[in-house]
Order: sequence, then C-alpha cells, then structure tokens
Amino acid sequence: MKLNPSKDFLLVTGGCGYIGSHTTVVLQKAGFQVLILDNLKNSKPKVLSRIQEITGQRPEFVEGDIRDAKGLEALFQKYRVSACLHFAGLKAVGESVEQPLNYYENNVQGSLQLFKAMKEAGVKRLVFSSSATVYGQPKSLPLSESASRQAENPYGQTKLMIEHILEDLCRSDLDWSVMSLRYFNPVGAHPSGMIGEDPLGIPNNLMPYISQVAVGRRKKLQVFGNDYPTSDGTGIRDYIHVMDLAEGHLAALRAAFESTGFQALNLGTGKAASVLELVQAFEQASGVKIDYEIVQRRPGDIAECWADPRLAREKLNWSCQRGLIEMCADSWNWQQKNPQGYD
Ligand code: NAD
Ligand code: UFG
Repeated sequence: MKLNPSKDFLLVTGGCGYIGSHTTVVLQKAGFQVLILDNLKNSKPKVLSRIQEITGQRPEFVEGDIRDAKGLEALFQKYRVSACLHFAGLKAVGESVEQPLNYYENNVQGSLQLFKAMKEAGVKRLVFSSSATVYGQPKSLPLSESASRQAENPYGQTKLMIEHILEDLCRSDLDWSVMSLRYFNPVGAHPSGMIGEDPLGIPNNLMPYISQVAVGRRKKLQVFGNDYPTSDGTGIRDYIHVMDLAEGHLAALRAAFESTGFQALNLGTGKAASVLELVQAFEQASGVKIDYEIVQRRPGDIAECWADPRLAREKLNWSCQRGLIEMCADSWNWQQKNPQGYD
C-alpha cells in the first residue's frame, strides 16, 4: 500500500495530548489529513483550535475511547484510515503503582481493542508510543535497542506488554508494519507557544515543574537527591525536544510504509544532562532564577539513562536538531504565554 498524504486519514489516538498534538502539527504540515481519537481524560479540546491556528487546518476529531470496540468499528467504517499513530494511554508512574488495574485496562486492554479494530479494517501500519522505561535499570549506557527489557512499575509493564503483543502480531501476519518508538525524556513546546505540555495538578516531571516555578505557580523545585553516582550527584537523563520527537514520528510513519515487521527504535539525543544542568539551561534561556532545594531521592528513580540514537538515525534518516537551551526556551515561551496551560 502506498502512502497517500492528502487522500487517506492518519488516525492519531491521544492526539489532544502533549506529544500527539505536536505530532499532529508536523503531520499536517507535511500534507497529511489527521483524525484524532481522544477521550480528553488528560487533555483539553482547546488544543484543536490551537493546532488549527498553527497549521491552518483543524484536525478531524472524534471524542471517544480506545477501549470502546463499537466506537472503533464505527470510526473505521466512517473514515478511510491508512495508518495509526497510537499515543493514547495513561503515563504517570506513581499513579500506576496505586491504580494498576486502571493502567492495565486503559493501556493494554485499550491497545488490544485498537489493534483488533485495525486488523478488522485492514489497517496494518502502526507507530506506537513506547518508552525508555521498558529498559528498567540500565545495565550499561548508552542504551541500545538490544538491551534487555525489564519494567519496574505497572506503567512500564503496560508498555512492555504492548511491545510483546505487537511482536507476536507481526510474527503472525507478515503484512503488519509496526514502529515502536522508545522515547527518552520529551520536553519543550512548539516554537509558536500555542501548544505545549499542560499537566493536570502538580507536575510529576522535571521540565513542567521548573517552568511552573519560573512563572510563579510553584514556590521552588525539589531536586530529588544529590547523592547519585553522577557528575554533580543529581539524576541524569536524555532530554529530547518534542518537535524533534514529532519529526521522528513522521520519519517512522514513512518507514512503516517501506518495510514490514516489528521495529523498536530509541528516540533520544544520545546526550546526557543532570537535573542541575537543566535548571541552569532554563535560567540561561529564560533569565529567571529557579529556586530549588535538595530533598530525598524519589523512590524508583534510576541514577542515569540516555540513548544510543544510532539505529533510529540509520533506519529513519532522522536525528535530533535542537539542544537543551532551545528546549528550555520553547518550554518557557509556552509557559509564559499560557501560565495556566490551556485554561
Ligand atoms: P498525554 O497524557 O499528554 O496524552 C495522552 C492522550 O491520550 C491524552 O490526551 C488522553 O486524554 C488520551 N487518552 C488516554 N487514555 C485514553 C483512552 N483510553 N482512549 C482515548 N484517549 C485516551 O501524554 P503524552 O506525554 O503526550 O504521551 C503520549 C504517549 O507517549 C503515551 O502513551 C505515553 O505513555 C508515551 N510516553 C510519554 C512520555 C513522556 O514523558 N511524556 C515518555 C515516554 C512515553
Ligand atoms: N526530578 C526532580 N524533581 C522533580 C521532578 C523530577 O529532581 O520535581 C528529577 C528526577 O529525580 C529525575 C529527573 O528529574 O532525575 C527527570 O525526572 P522526570 O520525572 O522528568 O522523568 P523520568 O526520567 O523520571 O521519567 C520520564 C517519564 C516516564 C518515562 C521515563 C523514561 O515520566 O514516564 O521518562 O522515558 F518512563
């Protein structure tokens, strides 16, 4: 099947969320028609008009749930879909420990319903939002795709289970083409400041926490531990600009039409930054001082994690173009223009 940008729809599940909305912009700019399916559990419908302001085109939108088999059947009957980019899922590690059944039901059961509906409709191209969390505690760094997988919390288990399901599916039917993209730490926002990350309640992740401190919504950042065996004692991660990530999805989609089978790929920069380095970069990009205090380690956190990004470069002809300062500048631009997020 050939990829036909303007004719068929790309189904983007979870397209109102942080990464799905940025990817929708990139797909539309590349000439694709996007159909978003989202239950708005962790997003706001306002994102649709923001996407329209950026691209000049409002994506088609169905408010619905990936667990709803009948709804999915109706969607595939109504729209001609050529491929799916599957972002929909719950993603908070701590919450997944407290509510494992919700996480398995939403992420695993929901994905199964989606894959069954795709199969029924003959749609066999998929780009899946996996996570570096599937590697668990790294045994060596950088992490390559062949590293052993070991999830350490229910959220990570759901990603790992979905990867296994997709591997089995691709083995059972050689027409399927699946790109499982293992994201490292997505941060930043569209340079327009029209769309960005808008977590509900207290942010779990570092960058939204820092930008809410900068804008005055929170008093100070708590740095979770400075006694790790790292350069400055704080945790080290591989931060990737969400626009680089979104462009990675476009490249993966194209690759999914040129190959079959299951392919896991790291989407990361291959560069490591500590918590304090990110704080410093943010201060430099924004000109705002970030108050912080060192507190206990967060249970379950790993010391360091960064990607070997070479396989994605080779398979997708894609690599990250944006550095730490640009990630911070774009996060700050979004936060300044939208101090309360989409509200
Ligand atoms: P997000 O919460 O902003 O977006 C997810 C979207 O999916 C939301 O709009 C939510 O309303 C929707 N959704 C959730 N369950 C649904 C369901 N059952 N039916 C329909 N819609 C549903 O999250 P994000 O940061 O954009 O992440 C997107 C994907 O990438 C997720 O699968 C996440 O696990 C994965 N991921 C994210 C990160 C990260 O740090 N942000 C890292 C690795 C992987
Ligand atoms: N951190 C702080 N203070 C905060 C928040 C985070 O010091 O308020 C530290 C953490 O201890 C860690 C680093 O900042 O050292 C990054 O933490 P994040 O919560 O931003 O990101 P994680 O690497 O812990 O987790 C993220 C996603 C997971 C995903 C994982 C791997 O939240 O869903 O990346 O992709 F599984």
